[in-house]
Amino acid sequence: MRRPHRPDQLRAGHRVRDFRVVRRLGVGGFAFVFLMERGGQHYTMKMAARPASHLDVDRVDDWMRREVHSLEHVHHPYLLPVLEWGRWPDPETGYGYFITPYVSGSTFHVWRWCKHATLERAVGVLCEHLKTLEVLHEDGIVHRDVKADNLLVRHGNDTPFLIDFGTAHLPWARVLTEGLAPGTLYCQPPEAVLFLASLLSENPPPPGSRLEARPAADLYAFGVLLYETLTNCRPFDTRRPLDELLPAIATMTPLEPGQLAPEMPASLRALTLRLLAKDPAQRPPSARAVREELERLREQEGHTSAWQAPSKRPSECAWVRERFPDVDMLEEAHEPEPERMGKRWEWPSRLAVLALGLGVLGLGWALVRAAPVPHREDVPRAEITASAPPAPPAKGTQPVPTSPSETLPTASDSTPSRLCSMLTRLLGGVAAAQLAGCVTTPVPPDSARYLAHCPPEATATPVKLGFDSLENPTFLETGTPASKDPIEEGGSLNVKPGPVMATMFAVVKGKEVETKITGVAMTTPYRLYIQFDRMQLPDGTWWPICGVAVDDFTSYGVPTWAKEPIDGSVVDPAKVDRSPGSVVLNDPRFEAVLQYPKGHPMPRLTLAPPDWR
Ligand SMILES: Nc1ncnc2c1ncn2[C@@H]1O[C@H](COP(=O)(O)OP(=O)(O)O)[C@@H](O)[C@H]1O
Ligand SMILES: [Mg+2]
Repeated sequence: MRRPHRPDQLRAGHRVRDFRVVRRLGVGGFAFVFLMERGGQHYTMKMAARPASHLDVDRVDDWMRREVHSLEHVHHPYLLPVLEWGRWPDPETGYGYFITPYVSGSTFHVWRWCKHATLERAVGVLCEHLKTLEVLHEDGIVHRDVKADNLLVRHGNDTPFLIDFGTAHLPWARVLTEGLAPGTLYCQPPEAVLFLASLLSENPPPPGSRLEARPAADLYAFGVLLYETLTNCRPFDTRRPLDELLPAIATMTPLEPGQLAPEMPASLRALTLRLLAKDPAQRPPSARAVREELERLREQEGHTSAWQAPSKRPSECAWVRERFPDVDMLEEAHEPEPERMGKRWEWPSRLAVLALGLGVLGLGWALVRAAPVPHREDVPRAEITASAPPAPPAKGTQPVPTSPSETLPTASDSTPSRLCSMLTRLLGGVAAAQLAGCVTTPVPPDSARYLAHCPPEATATPVKLGFDSLENPTFLETGTPASKDPIEEGGSLNVKPGPVMATMFAVVKGKEVETKITGVAMTTPYRLYIQFDRMQLPDGTWWPICGVAVDDFTSYGVPTWAKEPIDGSVVDPAKVDRSPGSVVLNDPRFEAVLQYPKGHPMPRLTLAPPDWR
């Protein structure tokens, strides 16, 4: 196999400097996290999804360096030291990465569910975690992304490590964002939402205005964490459209936790609501004050049955769902299986689309980092809408699915989407030109629907053949060179809409098998989408499949050169095919995801906004 040169191409066995990739632990929109090994010792490597470049409009590289800088400056037993950092594959221009010790444990909610931790034990862990916040706040550092996923509890001794300083505020560091800093949207405090609204209003604050980073923001996020711990629900329904979610965070009082979990102690419920106060001044004054109060309650009440009851999983709270159908219950995660450990398919589609709109204001990342995990059914359908004609219909060889109307998007009657109307309302006439992007972008094919309508004989194929992994490294074989250089040496490829063939490497019982897959390519200027329908094994037999090309394990389609020229990718303007629909692909490598039968775990895939890679 060819050598990897991007983090999404790193697989078990590949090397980054003298560390060996064991497996991927997590992937967000902006960084990849891997379990690494060196000399028999395990480590964690976090690598930015983009290299340092003027194209890095979201400043992913800057934020990665900020994370290294934060961890190097604060020392605490519950913070992971940076052991090494650098760039890869090129030490000067490559993707920024850093190495920390590996924590063998689980994120906070998974830990308390799997360990059946009593409330007393869980609160004990939270008290320890507050000690970390105390130290940070005393140094003027605000983490800005406190949440269960960023709290790793070590197995064996329950030590809570606070990770993910990618959005931390350091008083001495230069400002990286104007406006709202990145962070997880549903954990953003009301003051941040109000600030966002002010930026979007007709009388915005002067350019360069920022929301002052204050410890009260971390305390609010800690309140969200405590609310989730007591109720297994989020205080506000993150599945709601943003034009409802944001005003709710800014103005509405969450459901009293006792309504969702009457067995929870009144003292903890009251503290939770104080932490979630709209006015930062009404919240407890410091992390220390919260810890001292929690420790006191734990000491006084810890022996009672409410505190000694083991943590319930969301699935054990079925009555809550029945009684409060609108409540946003946490997704139940189990102890991850080794090969899928930590894999989070958390591209929040609606927010990503909004981020696209807000990107014009430099706010994109703030919202893209929002964390609600989309339900599979939530994969956007009518959210990106268009007046432009759809991509060419799928024709030809494919046995599945059936008609173009089933495979291609239709101009939905909800156009322009609610999102566009929300932005129009929020931005008034000022940004009308920018909003034009909402209604003129070509529509990508409905890949989610293609997979959902896959016939049973095609979904059965990967199971029958015993495929080990859900995503398979794939090389596109169809296309004409867009450069004098061969593809293997960084030359680019012209790809036209229509039938294509690719080589897909599947793993069957640990062994790599080279297959040929065929399908149909569809394009927008910035993305190439492929729907695969047939596969040929080395023995010559053909099998029906439903598969799609995906990028970064998170989004349908592959970005084109027009969207994101990859460093080192060579394009010769004289060789570029300018016929309608033709696009230039930087690199013919991507992942093919095959549809499995219903009930089988599938990666969470979403539609990338039309202008986003
Ligand atoms: N040091 C570590 N030890 C074990 N797992 C880790 C470690 N760091 C990160 N992870 C896993 O990777 C996930 C993503 O890491 P994080 O730093 O939060 O990246 P992101 O910015 O993508 O959220 C975490 O939720 C956790 O599951
Ligand atoms: Mg994180």
